[in-house]
Amino acid sequence: MHVNGLSIRSFASPAAAARTLARDVARALALKPTLVLGLPTGRTPVPLYAELAALCARGRADFSQATTFNLDEFLGIPAADARSYRAFMQRHLFDHVNLSSRRINFLDGAAADAATECLRYERRIARAGGLDLLILGLGVNGHIGFNEPGPALTSATHRTRLTAATRRANVELFAHRLRDVPREALSMGMGTILRARRIVLLATGASKASTVKRLAGGRISPALPASFLQMHGAVEVWVDAAAGAAISASEA
Ligand code: GLP
Repeated sequence: MHVNGLSIRSFASPAAAARTLARDVARALALKPTLVLGLPTGRTPVPLYAELAALCARGRADFSQATTFNLDEFLGIPAADARSYRAFMQRHLFDHVNLSSRRINFLDGAAADAATECLRYERRIARAGGLDLLILGLGVNGHIGFNEPGPALTSATHRTRLTAATRRANVELFAHRLRDVPREALSMGMGTILRARRIVLLATGASKASTVKRLAGGRISPALPASFLQMHGAVEVWVDAAAGAAISASEA
């Protein structure tokens, strides 16, 4: 179904969406072994990463020449810290696929100068030729990466303040201690995201249903950062039955 410039694809379950997306990524890698992939963290992509690991183990996905860029990282949390997004990716994907560590790119949350680090990342993405395929998750408040709702959005990779809702959503990584969740982060900007050649936003679970409905609603507003994806032209929104429930009810 096509709604306001978004192509929406529904799956019976999060597992079915993950399986199909993993096969899609494997196909993209077969067509272009030097694929440049943009990757999210969060609970949503965990089944996808497990499927990619399984495909790689069976020799059906080859990351040996691929390059990855993750969307975001907590400010002040070094890569080696188990609570970092970098460590999360290591546990869920990087340890299980044949990616070369030289081609894994991450924002360094502990960089001495955040602005210089953001500039470095932006330039590195450009030097890699831009993102071929960017996979996104969706914050319950409509954020993508760490582009939070607010009066304005930032185009380039930048340092950003996290909302209370987003800090609560990430509490699990910090042993459920909200006071330990950083108040700031580094994130690709909306421009960085919208320059990706293909974007797949993956949203699963009932908690995302109303956000998906707003996203498909047609209005573009910094109050819902994901709504800017409507302007891209090649964004696919992949939902499971629970996350898509509000749109199929109104659109059917
Ligand atoms: C986090 C990340 C996002 C992610 C989102 C959704 O805060 N910064 O990149 O997409 O929240 O997370 P989940 O998939 O756990 O719902």
